[in-house]
Amino acid sequence: MSYPTHRPRRLRGDARLRNIVRETRLSPENFIYPLFVEEELKEAVPISAMPGQSRWPVAEIIRPVEEAFAAGVRSFLFFGSPDRKDRTGTAAHASDGCVQRALELIKKRLPEALLITDVCLCAYTDHGHCGVPGPDGTILNDETLPHLCEMALSHVRAGADIVAPSDMMDGRIGAMRATLDIDGFSHIPIMSYAAKFASSFYGPFREAAHSAPQFGDRRTYQMDVANAREALMEMELDFDEGADILMVKPAMTALDILRVARDRFPCPLAAYQVSGEYSMIKAAAANGWLDEKSAMLESLLSIKRAGADLILTYFATEASKALKQS
Ligand code: PBG
Repeated sequence: MSYPTHRPRRLRGDARLRNIVRETRLSPENFIYPLFVEEELKEAVPISAMPGQSRWPVAEIIRPVEEAFAAGVRSFLFFGSPDRKDRTGTAAHASDGCVQRALELIKKRLPEALLITDVCLCAYTDHGHCGVPGPDGTILNDETLPHLCEMALSHVRAGADIVAPSDMMDGRIGAMRATLDIDGFSHIPIMSYAAKFASSFYGPFREAAHSAPQFGDRRTYQMDVANAREALMEMELDFDEGADILMVKPAMTALDILRVARDRFPCPLAAYQVSGEYSMIKAAAANGWLDEKSAMLESLLSIKRAGADLILTYFATEASKALKQS
């Protein structure tokens, strides 16, 4: 196989040829749009580090959902921000909490939408950690699990179609599966943030969700960025505990993990194009350094090419509109 017999450029000659041999395609159905609902807001507040994204009051959350839906997006992920925080994040499982009310409202207005919730305590605890701390500040694993299970259950009762735990405690998938099954929700899938790295690319999100840790950092539960085999082990554990969809996060800095996971696991894989990935493209485009539309689509395509079936992205609406035009 060599030149001049093989000339790969032959199939790049024009758009018809390029189209017929294209290996990977994006579709709005692949996207999951993450949204922030916040208690006590009167109107939407733009998130400065994430141009185009806002924090929404429950009463207005239907607006971005309907806009995305009209563009073809069918799936949504919700983060909540409560008005009161405490050591164990009790507001996370309040039946009248902002996420719970948002779910009920959207279920009524747009029953075709698929509603997913982020299950994690960090936005609900006064210390900002994803689990419950002991007296010395260590984040306690097994003590955290019942709180996460209760949160998941309360989301499902309010109408969540899928729950997505993002806390990185050990054993939470098994515990959550058992809780949901006992309470009559054995049909509700779990999308696990299985390989979640302790990444600096979550920076803008912490402004959006008011969830920055007040002491220490998340490296005793989120994974070391250096570790690939450990990421696959985390995914295997979650799969064995009953996760239906396995997620890798962030996407761009873990495309190698996605690639290997694609060959190893039969279940659907998701990748989260996190806030920092979004903000980088937005910032470069605002400076005229990158073409926003093509950089956006290229970044999403590379995530799908690496092996992701589903992509969580703040570009969901914009990318869906761009795909319609092209
Ligand atoms: C909550 C959570 C985080 C993100 C998703 N769920 C923040 C974190 O772990 O610090 C990050 C999402 C993003 O950066 O877009 N644990």
